[in-house]
Amino acid sequence: MAGKQGMQTTFTLRQFKPNDLEHVMNINRICLPENYSPYFFMDLYERFPQTFIVAEQELEIVGYIMCRIETGMTSFGLFGISRKGHVVSIAVLPKHQRKGVGAALMENAMKNMPQYKAKEIYLEVRTSNTPAVNMYKKLGLQIIRRNRRYYADGEDAYLMAKRLVEKKTGS
Ligand SMILES: CC(C)(COP(=O)(O)OP(=O)(O)OC[C@H]1O[C@@H](n2cnc3c(N)ncnc32)[C@H](O)[C@@H]1OP(=O)(O)O)[C@@H](O)C(=O)NCCC(=O)NCCS
Repeated sequence: MAGKQGMQTTFTLRQFKPNDLEHVMNINRICLPENYSPYFFMDLYERFPQTFIVAEQELEIVGYIMCRIETGMTSFGLFGISRKGHVVSIAVLPKHQRKGVGAALMENAMKNMPQYKAKEIYLEVRTSNTPAVNMYKKLGLQIIRRNRRYYADGEDAYLMAKRLVEKKTGS
């Protein structure tokens, strides 16, 4: 997949491979306060490889998205159980941001989630994280609710979600 037209950079997307672990963990540490053990990354790769995607530019990994497929309460309405794709972590190295990489990673994960029978995508995002909130809104996710003091430092999260499979209407 190519990068944004008109930009000087071109990136490609591919599935995460075990050799990428160190690079992905490094991007995670640079970009986010929520960090995880190598086991945590590898476990999600082994269970859900289609939704663990990296972006590469000139053989350098510049971003990643890592997801978990879950069965639980639907994010829409009050009742019902749904299969959901949960974006556990997404990040793009600062010097590669704002070039379409994050949106492309999200779109690729959303495209692949139905392979695991997921019907919704959801995620938590810091309420102060305007770049990420804007990106998710642009991709059609909506704010469902605010989770008070969701993060370890006390910040609130927005729960954002989108249906991946449109509800059939009419007869
Ligand atoms: C959030 C993040 C992944 C976005 O990645 P990105 O590659 O820069 O995003 P894109 O270039 O695909 O931008 C897509 C849209 O997001 C919004 N956006 C991205 N960066 C933005 C910024 N700095 N300010 C405002 N809106 C922004 C815009 O709507 C943008 O579309 P546009 O460029 O056509 O206006 C990146 O900023 C990042 O890694 N941040 C640190 C880690 C993080 O916060 N992860 C999310 C945790 S929930």
